[in-house]
Amino acid sequence: MMTEFDRPHIRPRRNRKNSAIRSMVQESSLTKSDLIMPLFVVDKKGVKQEIKSMPGQFRFGPDLLLKEVKEIHQLGISCVCLFPALEDRNKDSKATEAMNPHGFYPQAIKMIKHEIPDMQVMTDIALDPYSSDGHDGLVDKKSGKVLNDETLDVLAEMAIIQSRAGADILGPSDMMDGRIGVIRQALDSEGFYDTSIMSYSAKYASAFYGPFRDALESAPKKGDKKTYQMNPANIKEALLEAELDTDEGADMLMVKPGLAYLDVISALKDESLLPVAAYNVSGEYAMVKAAAQNGWIDGEKVMLETLLSFKRAGADVILSYFSKEAACLI
Ligand code: PBG
Repeated sequence: MMTEFDRPHIRPRRNRKNSAIRSMVQESSLTKSDLIMPLFVVDKKGVKQEIKSMPGQFRFGPDLLLKEVKEIHQLGISCVCLFPALEDRNKDSKATEAMNPHGFYPQAIKMIKHEIPDMQVMTDIALDPYSSDGHDGLVDKKSGKVLNDETLDVLAEMAIIQSRAGADILGPSDMMDGRIGVIRQALDSEGFYDTSIMSYSAKYASAFYGPFRDALESAPKKGDKKTYQMNPANIKEALLEAELDTDEGADMLMVKPGLAYLDVISALKDESLLPVAAYNVSGEYAMVKAAAQNGWIDGEKVMLETLLSFKRAGADVILSYFSKEAACLI
């Protein structure tokens, strides 16, 4: 006997009957222009050192970085985001190297903009790569507190140095209060009206950053980042942060991590008039790679499904270590 169902004239499967129809009614899609590729830079020529917990990702010396960025450019990706990896001996409690205009990081920005002018260079503004304390802000020696307002001066100086080097988009990633306004003001006072700010507006205190901290050897020496990064339980707070950053002059907002926070991406997209970015972070990358290497999942398919999920949630931009690999497939 054949089973009958309620409304046999309505058959959603008609819209899935072949690939032409499926593509025709597809609601969201992933394109190369959505993607930003994060890259790690070190101050030593000839280096291309794989990061253990991020298979397929490397710390690049300046020369090999340029080669990599050229490849990425040829694949059709229009933006890279650079993170500096410093040796311990070049870190200190004041994050001095962050304010060195001749440091290898501003030099790397300059080199890329000189060689490939239309490649957009995004930067990172936070103290953790430079700080012997491993925190995103200056730390008060006595109390161990991560200082807000004292850190803002350093961030503003970093913003100027990076803009002078040619950065197109600055990425304040530290979750200090008031940083977007202070950075915008500093930029404008120096005439950098065209330098964009993508604010890490909703950045959670997450365990998904583990492999990134391996890459930079930047894990906090003491304590955690919960007094500045957000509680994973909160979403209203993300909207508050986004509103403040918008008022202070952000051009784009970011949610980070991405995969466990698709609801936050969606909420920000609904509430804000600004473009929203998702950061598909190191731990999300590592999980997919590890399972794929074990043959437990199809790595390529899971990668593309993951990236597409950010678009469906409402992201306009995606920062992902998969960007290069994905660009080869789309
Ligand atoms: C620090 C920073 C972190 C990431 C980007 N910028 C780590 C942290 O907050 O400890 C993480 C990126 C990733 O995990 O891929 N300012």
